[in-house]
Amino acid sequence: MSTKLENLHRAPWKHMVSIDSTNAYILRQNCRDLPEGFTCSAQTQTHGQGRQDRIWHSPQGGLYLSILLKPTTSTQYWSLFPFIAALAAAEAIEMAAPDLTISLKWPNDLLLDMKKTGGILIQSAMGAAPYLVCGVGINIDCPSDKFPPRMLFPATSLGAFTPKTPAVESLARKLRNHLFNHYIYWENSPDYFLDDWESRSVITDRLITIKQSEGVLQGICRGIRKDGFLLIETSQGNKAICTGDIIEIGEIIHGSSD
Ligand code: BTN
Repeated sequence: MSTKLENLHRAPWKHMVSIDSTNAYILRQNCRDLPEGFTCSAQTQTHGQGRQDRIWHSPQGGLYLSILLKPTTSTQYWSLFPFIAALAAAEAIEMAAPDLTISLKWPNDLLLDMKKTGGILIQSAMGAAPYLVCGVGINIDCPSDKFPPRMLFPATSLGAFTPKTPAVESLARKLRNHLFNHYIYWENSPDYFLDDWESRSVITDRLITIKQSEGVLQGICRGIRKDGFLLIETSQGNKAICTGDIIEIGEIIHGSSD
């Protein structure tokens, strides 16, 4: 095992019954002095944070875990990290519950049968000693009435799809191990994961609608670029986008739409 990987595994892990947000907890610390790999998890979160300032509902029965990382990779590649985290989470879930198959929705939603069972929130600080906090939320055994209704990609939990629901602690350990392994690979080869990620994607070659701050875009998804941008074939030409929310997934369209 490389020294870096050993050090990651040795980093402290603080578990709490309840906290506002495991990401926020780490970000409140003096992260530059905390060891890389420092982990915070909680049984529930009172102010769980999702992407794009959304609330992450965090009842009992879910996994809420955040890890501090200090990549040596050039920061230009950091936008790829959410993909690594999603892949690591998908693999950890399947290892813990082999009867499940997790799909991914760009950029980093974990899906079961097109329903959302997990998500990733990466928050970073740049500067002389940059770091990131990788937060993962997975609904493991949470009744669906604990989540607000959503029209598209409604929330679900692993327990709705398997009689062998994994224990939160055991899944948390697997996830942390997988994430560390992927992290080490990624530091050496930032785009190594693209094929694995693509093979789980629910949108490749499908007509999709994406909501962005500047409006709504529709086109056929042609995969992700080496920098994590989503490639979209639109009636106005090909576009590569870095942020947005997929709000609709339509039919498969192979080949060019012309
Ligand atoms: C998303 O919007 O899909 C991302 C959700 C990320 C939730 C996790 S739970 C652990 C960590 N702490 C937070 O407050 N958010 C992340």
